[in-house]
Amino acid sequence: MTGSLLHLTSSHSHQQLVVTVPPDGVALTGKIQVPGDKSISHRALMLGAISEGETRIQGLLLGEDPRSTAKCFQAMGVEIPSLEDEWVTVQGVGLGNLQEPADVLNVGNSGTTLRLMIGMLASHPNRFFTVTGDDSLRSRPMGRVIKPLMQMGAHIWGRQENTLAPLAVQGQALKPTHYNSPIASAQVKSCVLLAGLLTDGPTTVTEPSLSRDHSERMLQAFGADLTVDQTACTVTVNGPANLTAQTVIVPGDISSAAFWLVAAAITPGSELVIENVGVNPTRTGILEALQAMNADITFENERLVTGEPVADLRVRYGQLQGATFSGDIIPRMIDEIPILAVAALFAKGQTVIKDAAELRVKESDRLTAMATELNRLGANVTERADGLEIPGGLSTLTGTTVDSFTDHRVSMSLTIAALRAQGVTTIQRAEAAAISYPTFFETLEQICTH
Ligand code: S3P
Repeated sequence: MTGSLLHLTSSHSHQQLVVTVPPDGVALTGKIQVPGDKSISHRALMLGAISEGETRIQGLLLGEDPRSTAKCFQAMGVEIPSLEDEWVTVQGVGLGNLQEPADVLNVGNSGTTLRLMIGMLASHPNRFFTVTGDDSLRSRPMGRVIKPLMQMGAHIWGRQENTLAPLAVQGQALKPTHYNSPIASAQVKSCVLLAGLLTDGPTTVTEPSLSRDHSERMLQAFGADLTVDQTACTVTVNGPANLTAQTVIVPGDISSAAFWLVAAAITPGSELVIENVGVNPTRTGILEALQAMNADITFENERLVTGEPVADLRVRYGQLQGATFSGDIIPRMIDEIPILAVAALFAKGQTVIKDAAELRVKESDRLTAMATELNRLGANVTERADGLEIPGGLSTLTGTTVDSFTDHRVSMSLTIAALRAQGVTTIQRAEAAAISYPTFFETLEQICTH
C-alpha cells in the first residue's frame, strides 16, 4: 500500500509501516465502520459448530484469529463453506458430535480460540485432540483453563506441568463443579461454561469482578439453560444443553473503535462518527475512561442487535485531563489499555493505570511493550508491576523506529501515536494488525486529512 501518509514495505518475512506526518500535522474526519467484534465472532462460529442446524452470521470479523477458529472446527467436521460471504453459514454438528481431528489443531495467535475450545474438547467423550499455536500463544498461560477443567475430571497434558501449549486432551464425560476463578477472565469463564454444556448437572463459575458476558448472552440465545447473577459475578450452566442454530449479527468491535476514538480525541481538528459499535456494558470501560479524561464522545442511535447493545459513536478533539484507573473498570477495558496509554501522553496531568498485571500475559507483555516503545518516541512512561504511570503534558512525539512485538494492538496503538509524532516513524512488524483489524491502515488513509 502506498499513500502520502503511510507506506508499507516488506523486509525479510516482516513488514514495516512508515508513517510520515506533514509538518502541519493531520486531522481525522469522516464516518466509518469498524470490523466485527472479535469475541462475538469466535463465539458465533463455535456455538454454531456445536448446535443443531445452520447458523447464519453477518458481520463476522475476517481477521486472522476468527479464521483460526473456523479452521479448527472445519478440521473437526464442521462445514463452514466460506468466510468471505456477507452471510457466513455454519452447519452445526450438534453437541458432542465434533469429529476427532486427523492432525494437530493450530490456533495461531488466538488465545480465545484455544481457551474456549479446550473446554469443549475436554468434555467430548472418546475423542483425542492436540492443540498448538504460534510462538506468542505457546508462551501464554494455559494453566488458568486447565486447572478448572481438571477440577471437573478432565485429562489434559501440556508443557511445563500442564501450563503451556502444545496441549493434548483425552476427551471424556466430566463432573459438574463450582469454580472460583482467581482472575476476571472471560476466556476462563467461557471455557468452564462450554465444558458444562456436555456435563450432567450445574457447572458454576464465579469471578472476582465482571468480565465480558458475550458467552452468557449467546449461550442463552442458542437455548442453553443458564442462570446469571451479575452482582455476584456468578454464572451457572445446567447441562446437558440442547443448542439450536441461530442468526447472529456481529456488531463492530469496540476494541477496534478505540483506536479511532483516541486518534480523534488527541488530534486537533478531528471529528469522527464510528457507526455500529458494540457497546455491551462489560466492554465500555474505555468509553468511561476517556469520558473521565474529558473526551468529547457521544452515543447516537442506540439499539439492540441480536442480544447485544449497539450505538454510533461521535468523537471530537478536545484537551484531555489525566486520571487514575484501577479495580473493576480494568477488565472492562482490558484490551484498550495500550491505546489509552497513547491518549494519556497528551492529557494535562498524570494518568495512572493499576491492577492491570494481566496485560503482561496478552499477545505480548503489553506493559513493557507500550512503555518501551512510547519512550522511544520521546515519552516518559514508567512501568509498574501492575500498570503504567504516564506523566502527560506532551504536545508532540518524535518520529523514530519502534516495534509491534508482533502484537496487533501494540502495532495499531503505535500507529496512532505516530500521527502525533514529528517527522517519520517506522513501525516494525506492523502487519500484526491483521489479527483483529485487517483494514486498519486503509481506513486510516481514508480519514486522514492533511
Ligand atoms: C476475550 C477475553 C479477554 C480479552 C481477549 C478476548 C474473549 O481475555 O483480552 O482479547 O473473547 O473472551 P481474558 O479473558 O484472558 O481477560
